[in-house]
Amino acid sequence: MTDTLRVAIVGTGSVARLHAEAVEAYPRATLVAVTDLSVAAATAFAAKHGAPAVYENLDALLAAEHPDVALICTPPASHREQTLAAFAAGAHVIVEKPPAPSLDELDAMRDAAAAAHRQLAVVFQQRTGTAAAHVRRLLHDGALGRPLLAQCQTLWFRDAEYFAVPWRGSWSTEGGGTTLGHGIHQLDLLGHLLGSWSRVEARLWRLDRETETEDASTATVVFDSGVVAQVVSSTVSPRQTSSIRIDTQKATITVDHLYGHGHENWAITPAPHVSEAEAATWALPEVEERSDHGPLLRNVFDALLAGAPLPSTADEPARSIELVAAMYASAAADGAVVTPADLAAHPSHRRSFESPVIDLRPSSAP
Ligand SMILES: NC(=O)c1ccc[n+]([C@@H]2O[C@H](COP(=O)([O-])OP(=O)(O)OC[C@H]3O[C@@H](n4cnc5c(N)ncnc54)[C@H](O)[C@@H]3O)[C@@H](O)[C@H]2O)c1
Repeated sequence: MTDTLRVAIVGTGSVARLHAEAVEAYPRATLVAVTDLSVAAATAFAAKHGAPAVYENLDALLAAEHPDVALICTPPASHREQTLAAFAAGAHVIVEKPPAPSLDELDAMRDAAAAAHRQLAVVFQQRTGTAAAHVRRLLHDGALGRPLLAQCQTLWFRDAEYFAVPWRGSWSTEGGGTTLGHGIHQLDLLGHLLGSWSRVEARLWRLDRETETEDASTATVVFDSGVVAQVVSSTVSPRQTSSIRIDTQKATITVDHLYGHGHENWAITPAPHVSEAEAATWALPEVEERSDHGPLLRNVFDALLAGAPLPSTADEPARSIELVAAMYASAAADGAVVTPADLAAHPSHRRSFESPVIDLRPSSAP
């Protein structure tokens, strides 16, 4: 393996800046090229972030540059095709969330990674940060007793202007609504903390927005460990928050933030029977790192350069999208229970998440 990773960015829209900054911050990676449907946008991006080459399309970029890593920052509908092309050209892939708009497409991406002996990492940056790692360790070590009950909220506000971007709000181009597009971040962190799930019941709602997909969803998720979680995702909530609360036998863990968390966003509140001395052993570490794209890409780059497996912040690429798929499958069956076995053999929801949305908006009819 090389000493310095040659990195290319595919799609130079909003999120690509975070990737360019993460590459710039990493001493053993260099941004060699970018591409976008809009060559003008790619050219401006390349000038701003010091990328020496701009290509009209991904095939041309791959043929000319043979990058070690492709950072895929395009909308979900393009992820599979671009990922497969990158693997065929020998690159590792770090793809933005959601990794794909369907489980079949993600399967194809994972199969292609295995066949090419390359890594597929998904950007779920909420898993990063010293507080999440600390809390995960406490939960895994049993220091807080058995986790029992959880709440996972993604209450965001997205107006008509946000949905005016052509690929947003439709099943065919975005793959899903706020559950897939937004809620998946906190759901992924919840799964990172609590592990495998065993059943899901969910409903999709259209409360206010003019979108084909849902603008809110509600779900109950049961984890293998016996935790019951209530999950709410929304684009109609003016006081925005991303939050998780886990009640264990000994404490309540909370994280309340919007797009990223540091230590100030987390709290571990002991139950009345816990001594001060025991609670003191749960304190967050003194050295703090916030959750962000930077630590995620750094951890993945470190693993790629060492030829090591992906770090836990970037492994299990399917867990949260399977949870999301189970929610859509449940909603399509009028809120019926969906298990991992149901999902594995599902007749429709491995192919597409398109599901009926219960429309509660006042009728526009006169
Ligand atoms: N991890 C996060 O916090 C985070 C935040 C925002 C967006 N995202 C994800 O990043 C992805 C992109 O979102 P965005 O907000 O940057 O979107 P965007 O619309 O701002 O940018 C997407 C860019 O991709 C380009 N593009 C589209 N199809 C292409 C193709 N076939 N080939 C080359 N370029 C193509 C577009 O021209 C555009 O410049 C989505 O999957 C989104 O969910 C993740």
